[in-house]
Amino acid sequence: MSTLAVIGAQWGDEGKGKITDYLALKADLVVRFQGGDNAGHTIVFGKEKYALHLVPSGIFRPDTKNLLAAGMVINPLSLLEEIDMLKEKGFDCENLVICARAHVILPYHQALDTFYESLKKDKVGTTAKGIGPAYMDKAARRGIRIGEFCDPARFAAHLSVVLPHINFLLESAGMETFDKTDLVERFKPVQDRLRPYVGDGAAVVNDAIDKDLKVLFEGAQGTMLCLDHGTYPYVTSSSPTAAAIPINVGIPPKAVHKVLGITKAYATRVGGGVFPSEISGDTADSIRQNGNEFGTTTGRPRRIGWLDTVALRHAVRINGFDYLAIMLLDVLSGVDELKLCTAYELDGERIDHVPASIDDLKRCRPVLNRMPGFTGDISSAKTFEDLPQNARNYLEEIARLVGVGIALFSVGPGRDQTVLLDTFF
Ligand code: IMP
Repeated sequence: MSTLAVIGAQWGDEGKGKITDYLALKADLVVRFQGGDNAGHTIVFGKEKYALHLVPSGIFRPDTKNLLAAGMVINPLSLLEEIDMLKEKGFDCENLVICARAHVILPYHQALDTFYESLKKDKVGTTAKGIGPAYMDKAARRGIRIGEFCDPARFAAHLSVVLPHINFLLESAGMETFDKTDLVERFKPVQDRLRPYVGDGAAVVNDAIDKDLKVLFEGAQGTMLCLDHGTYPYVTSSSPTAAAIPINVGIPPKAVHKVLGITKAYATRVGGGVFPSEISGDTADSIRQNGNEFGTTTGRPRRIGWLDTVALRHAVRINGFDYLAIMLLDVLSGVDELKLCTAYELDGERIDHVPASIDDLKRCRPVLNRMPGFTGDISSAKTFEDLPQNARNYLEEIARLVGVGIALFSVGPGRDQTVLLDTFF
């Protein structure tokens, strides 16, 4: 088995960055395949903490190649900022490739993101990074791709076609419009710096697969934020699922060999939208503090809930997880009573699936199983047996309810606070 997908099973922020960084030790290539700088992957090693938004988590390993694939939307300014931050810390980024087919996010996408949100009564709570408008332009066939963007003449030609439409929208919204010459001049130095990284992403990955090299696909966001299978319309504008990898990268579906689903030991959600197992009060506050549940990208406090195994089973069905990784188990230490959402109650009837209609999902109440909590510092656990009995019971109950074996669990942010139960990849 040479390729593995690391996929968020919840609403994002599950700890995919930490696991990808951990697995990147063995990977020849790490691929981000969707989304953009709405993602925030936190990686801690040594005394340093790194927040990555675009660059794949394999960038810290000099022998690992890192690709931003065709399905991404890339803000060139954010990318350069990230490259500069990494270079300053001693990582030269020579191992980075940007697929020429990926789309660019330009300042007008961010302006439109804010404008579209302002029109909504029930806010999605986007990250305001311009993700939705950039994917809108891509679907409307007026997007600009990195390959063309990095060629100043082609960039100018594309802007001539695109800007009249964008400025028409902005003008009718009473917002500032954009000037072609200004954009062309402003982005010239950016293009010069990004050009050396641009390549054919699909060729890079297909070559690696043909050579039987180890490839990791790093999902951003999570399955419940999927444009098709998440809690629509409170979702992101791409599909963070394993099924999205082939199309977003340019490889055959059968080239995705195994899928690792990542979930926290509890649930979080940032932004608007229904969250059936959400809780508030002291337990939620202490989980938020202990888990540092504040957005990596926006700093917003995350909403907290009990682990929702209905949503997890939904993610299993869509992604076909071969294994589960349970993150942030240590954060639950000291919670008196743990609860697992095992079903929903909809209009007095018990259901065991996520309803397609958001109106139905809004009326769902969680059916909760209670389990005794555990105490003590588990942050140095090295084996399953090092955990208190109640923590072991909790993990076993999750695996039973979800129907997927746990391949690893995490007891802290550090690389060495990862306990492997199964060998894979
Ligand atoms: P957008 O992706 O910025 O359009 O935001 C759409 C929804 O997805 C909002 O509710 C965001 O809070 C959420 N979202 C986007 N990216 C992430 C992420 O990396 N982690 C968690 N939530 C995210």
